[in-house]
Amino acid sequence: MLKYAINGGKPLNGKVKISGSKNAALPILAATLLTKDEVILKNVPVLRDIQTMVELLVMLGKRVRVDDGRMIISSENGGHHRATYEVVKKMRASIVVLGPLLARYGKAEVSMPGGCAFGPRPVDLHIRGMEELGAKVEIHHGYIAAEAEKLQGKSILLAGKFGPSVLGTDNVAMAATLAEGSTVIHSAAKEPETSDLMHFLNAMGANVSSIGSDDLVIDGVSSLHGCEYNIIPDRIEAITYLLSGLVTGGEVEIAYESEEHIHFALDVLESCGVELERKAGSIKASVKDRSALKAANLITQPYPRFPTDMHPVFMVLASILQGESSIKEVIYPTRFNHVPELQRMGANIRQEANTAIIKPVDQLEGALVQASDLRAGAALVLAGLAAKGRTEVHRVYHIERGYENMVEKLQSLGADIQKEKSEVI
Ligand code: EPU
Repeated sequence: MLKYAINGGKPLNGKVKISGSKNAALPILAATLLTKDEVILKNVPVLRDIQTMVELLVMLGKRVRVDDGRMIISSENGGHHRATYEVVKKMRASIVVLGPLLARYGKAEVSMPGGCAFGPRPVDLHIRGMEELGAKVEIHHGYIAAEAEKLQGKSILLAGKFGPSVLGTDNVAMAATLAEGSTVIHSAAKEPETSDLMHFLNAMGANVSSIGSDDLVIDGVSSLHGCEYNIIPDRIEAITYLLSGLVTGGEVEIAYESEEHIHFALDVLESCGVELERKAGSIKASVKDRSALKAANLITQPYPRFPTDMHPVFMVLASILQGESSIKEVIYPTRFNHVPELQRMGANIRQEANTAIIKPVDQLEGALVQASDLRAGAALVLAGLAAKGRTEVHRVYHIERGYENMVEKLQSLGADIQKEKSEVI
């Protein structure tokens, strides 16, 4: 196993290119199951979660190769409809093959995804959506088994206790592309990654409209064909690198084309007193007077508001803002595993129910810490870069699920960060 060893306290400066979006690429890869034709994807990030999805596609009868940075997905002889526990257990997002398999083969068996480090992650909306489209769904021996001779389009309310579901919307929309008639998903997710999937489905010949609205419309077609598609850049990675400059007292510029996807986060930064320099295809964040940075009160909410996946990295920034900041986590009310680790680095954070209250500290201090999930791990890396002394972040396999070449990118910005063998398990 590996750890990241960081000698903190060095300002990060320079420009970094933002990779393709993991959370857009995963459902798009799953959507290739909807066609027997060849699909060519560009800007797919090289990540552990992508590898897992590729393993899953191969298990389901696809052939996947990479040529000149493009991922080419074609079909072997015949497909399979069973996604087994061995692969699904590695990544919860594997559930997103359920809709495409059901639509394409009339049946699907997908292992129930296991637990998650930051609390319950139910799949009831995915299952309800398939049932509403006319599938018979049963759960046996840890597997979701869905069957339908022909799916029927329908008006479906897909709202859960915490609002829309990103992968739930993706799954149901994919199933609906090959259904008879028209489907409307009310309370659909509006996240850019979901919209990217819908544009991809249309590039394959689907008929999805009202993309990016609360009510997504899918008119069923008889089949889908191959296409070439370019995946959007990763908005969570984009913000992580902007923050890496800010928390270390440097100025980082991101090569990033989709500013509209991070409007809310950029507004938060500006309201704290961060200066943003926007050019075509890039954004640079800097701070003139660190002592004048204002505190922020944030609530995680579905897009276009403040994303839950940015909460842990913003918590590190909050440690240098002047005054008391707060972050209320509404999407995953128990997503706070990074808090005790940040406290061990000297952060002044108090948790009250699903809200963290953060007071500024003069200086974070290096420590040995463990990543418990992807975004918590990214926060610990940022804290380590900002801290005085040496930090070791263990269990970095969580980070490598979702940040492409993080160590190399941070080194290119001047960070003293190395991958080393980890003796802690
Ligand atoms: N929910 C239900 N029932 C369901 C599905 C979800 O109650 O059937 C609840 C969840 O428990 C949560 C809320 O609905 O409270 C929203 O969850 P959602 O379904 O939107 O999450 P997801 O689709 O499983 C994606 C991202 C997550 C990200 C969330 C929220 C991917 C692969 N994953 O998950 O990303 O946090 O949306 O934006 O797209 C990450 O990248 O680190 C990550 C966890």
